[in-house]
Amino acid sequence: MHGQAAVMRNGPLRLFHISDIHFGLEDTRALDWVKSCIETEKPDAIAITGDLTMRARHPEFRAACEWITALKVPVTVEVGNHDIPYFNLYQRFFAPYKRFKAIERLVETELDLPDLAIVPLRTTTRAQYQRFPWSNGWVTERALRHTLDAIDALPSGTRILIACHHPLTERRADGKLLTINGTRAMEALAGRKVMGVLSGHVHDAFDLTEQTAAGPLRMIGAGTLSKRIRSTPPSFNEIVVEGDQVRVTARNLAKVPTRAMQIDEVPENALPPREPREPVAPIATVPPVDPPVH
Ligand SMILES: [Fe+2]
Ligand SMILES: [Fe+2]
Repeated sequence: MHGQAAVMRNGPLRLFHISDIHFGLEDTRALDWVKSCIETEKPDAIAITGDLTMRARHPEFRAACEWITALKVPVTVEVGNHDIPYFNLYQRFFAPYKRFKAIERLVETELDLPDLAIVPLRTTTRAQYQRFPWSNGWVTERALRHTLDAIDALPSGTRILIACHHPLTERRADGKLLTINGTRAMEALAGRKVMGVLSGHVHDAFDLTEQTAAGPLRMIGAGTLSKRIRSTPPSFNEIVVEGDQVRVTARNLAKVPTRAMQIDEVPENALPPREPREPVAPIATVPPVDPPVH
């Protein structure tokens, strides 16, 4: 769906890409800092790439909706695997978005900025017949079609960023399946000259260029603002789009430089690395024990 109307303006656009706040296990200090950055710096838009909550519980959604509705800039919110009901199977299958009611108009909403559109791509599904558990991504044909149609409806020359929850990488180097249909989605997006795909889910930041059959595609991941850290302190991405250039800074309270915050390979999930050769950022702030999942 089309969202906020475009306002013509020259100069660079500055976006905040934040992800995986996981209300219920949020990092209050980091979150308060991000909020003050938003209030003082007033970015042109904010993309929140999913996992607002820990287990999609009502109090977690209340806190998430309260935090998001207080933001005074255009926002798009993608749905993460932690945001659809986990315990209530009836709701999971028949009304998975019911708990988003207070921020309904922001969910999977295209943001139309001057000569730049942020277009959502749904990667979270209610169930996956291919595997269990269902925490990883699946770009269904329907979801991909929806996004491609939205891109094709844009005025020619519009710069495009995609916002989704799961990194689109389909397989790890060892062949392990990550996002189903990710390769096809990446190729379709590269063919439409998308400038970058913003995602979350793995709780570490990255800025990678993947080669596809239709050309290169920039994959930009944001870290987490929760206590469920993987190998880096809590962070968010500041993204500056100027002409055909996209600059990414992984901002964090620990003042770790961006390159040290970023992993070089997409890991399987958000849990801290425990196996040898798992992708870890150079800073390697790996918690000594795994943070709680629930
Ligand atoms: Fe997450
Ligand atoms: Fe996730």
